[in-house]
Amino acid sequence: MSSQREASTKRVSAPAITARKGGEPIVCLTAYTAPMAEILDPHCDLLLVGDSVGMVVHGLPDTVGVTLEMMILHGQAVMRASRRAMVVVDMPFGSYEASPEQAFANATRLLKETGCQAVKLESGPAVAETVAFLVRRGIPVMGHVGLRPQAINVDGAFRAKGRTEDERTRVLAEAEATADAGAFAIVVEGVAEGLAREITEAVAVPTIGIGASVACDGQILVTDDMLGLFDWTPKFVRRYADLRGEISQAVGAWAGDVRARRFPAEAETYFAHKSTAG
Ligand code: KIV
Repeated sequence: MSSQREASTKRVSAPAITARKGGEPIVCLTAYTAPMAEILDPHCDLLLVGDSVGMVVHGLPDTVGVTLEMMILHGQAVMRASRRAMVVVDMPFGSYEASPEQAFANATRLLKETGCQAVKLESGPAVAETVAFLVRRGIPVMGHVGLRPQAINVDGAFRAKGRTEDERTRVLAEAEATADAGAFAIVVEGVAEGLAREITEAVAVPTIGIGASVACDGQILVTDDMLGLFDWTPKFVRRYADLRGEISQAVGAWAGDVRARRFPAEAETYFAHKSTAG
């Protein structure tokens, strides 16, 4: 048994997350790397290795190009560096839609090769059977409804949902189908407050909001957004730091020291020759 799998017994579990419905808000963030997972772990109930890694880390225009291999590598890094939080890994586009059997084979790889405790997939009536198939076979599933980034080529843009009655009915149906299929929690992304409240009241499992108001049972953000690593901040994000500015300032200072031969100094040099000048 790998050390990754042994550690998972001490972590927050899927049933523990489900039991938080209507209780203390559930704190979740995305993590893709070992150093960030180590920093986030003590503060979070759940770390999501989201397929947003494709855009945030790999510079892809959307999440469609993300592969299972990318998710496995980032999942392994996050598992190695975290101890307590539940770790959920996203199933990328194309890894679960064809059939429940395809989803089971790929979800099994994610659990076995990373040691994560659950998978997340973009859900609704079309994959309800798949969610039930996975859960019945021992794989906890987190759903994802509302704005579904993997559907960008059908939707045409990343746009908040819930402005029309049609849209409200469709997103509510996605959430109900996901909960009925046995998901332990559901990410609700980019929906109007009234719809988020309606979904949260309608389903028996916790809703984890991102751009979905305070009505949800928990919140998740893309960590790099809330730390200010990008020059653009979506409406639903609150920036708690300006790491982009701080990194730029630090790198500028170092570059200036290198160009002026102020770096490295004697204290930063092995067996330095003492200067005889002056
Ligand atoms: O991929 C991701 O990071 C996500 C979150 C935005 C919920 O799905």
